[in-house]
Amino acid sequence: MSYDTIIVETRGKVGLVTLNRPQALNALNSTLLTEVNRALDDFDADRNVGCIVITGSEKAFAAGADIKEMSELSYPDTYVDDFFAGWDRVASRRKPMIAAVAGFALGGGCEFAMMCDFIIAADTAKFGQPEIKLGVMPGMGGTQRLTRLIGRAKAMDMCLTGRMMGAEEAERSGLVARIVPAADLVAEAIKTAETIASMSRPAVMMTKESVDRADETSLAEGVRFERRVFHAMFGTDDQREGMKAFIEKRAPQFKSS
Ligand code: HXC
Repeated sequence: MSYDTIIVETRGKVGLVTLNRPQALNALNSTLLTEVNRALDDFDADRNVGCIVITGSEKAFAAGADIKEMSELSYPDTYVDDFFAGWDRVASRRKPMIAAVAGFALGGGCEFAMMCDFIIAADTAKFGQPEIKLGVMPGMGGTQRLTRLIGRAKAMDMCLTGRMMGAEEAERSGLVARIVPAADLVAEAIKTAETIASMSRPAVMMTKESVDRADETSLAEGVRFERRVFHAMFGTDDQREGMKAFIEKRAPQFKSS
């Protein structure tokens, strides 16, 4: 499959998508969205792939939605085409996705990173929701996901002023899971993805589904959902193998990874 705006590779059990519009700091245009969804469709369907890494360049994960593409759109255009709705498909993937972010992750770039299950940031990463400076507002989930991740006060600060947040503040605020040196970013993200991909596939996917529920439901409902899914795991061979391997003091051989 050939792509114009991304590079797609498989490294063992890890699917790697590299955003590749260097002339526009990986600005997210409609071709890129279509291609990312196509790549994710293939990774979802590929039984060999257990975890996905999304990354950009050293300078930018992505500097936002493509301003040049959307500057002339009208309200009816955006409404009829349900502009940006394709990003909901990116956000609702069932296999885990890690965003490996170096440089700018602004606007839609920050929102894309937050659609992933967690973010590993290079020490050079800069996050922001600068849409307010363009006379608009976040439109790919930023007001919702940023608020859940870093809380109302900081989300308001970011969205209303459009200021950028460096990697350390982002880690302190709960936006990113960890910071690594820029030179090691992709290798560290792939290593982490390999670890996840080596686990029981149903256990990984059910865990992701259960953590995602925390955003959608009450604590009591979420805990009930978790328990039911946990019960379901006792129907997998991997549960037997994982627990047996612990007792026999050996590494587990999961069937489904
Ligand atoms: C289109 C972009 C772009 C973008 C950068 N470029 N960001 N093109 N859309 N979001 C282009 C520039 O026009 C330029 O092209 C080239 O990439 C290099 O960018 P420079 O600005 O020259 O680089 P630099 O001086 O290093 O500044 C980097 C930057 C700046 C601080 C990241 O590019 C910037 O502020 N970009 C816009 C960030 C932003 O506002 N993002 C939010 C977008 S709105 P040329 O051809 O001139 O060399 C959004 C959601 C909107 O994401 C939701 C609305 C409903």
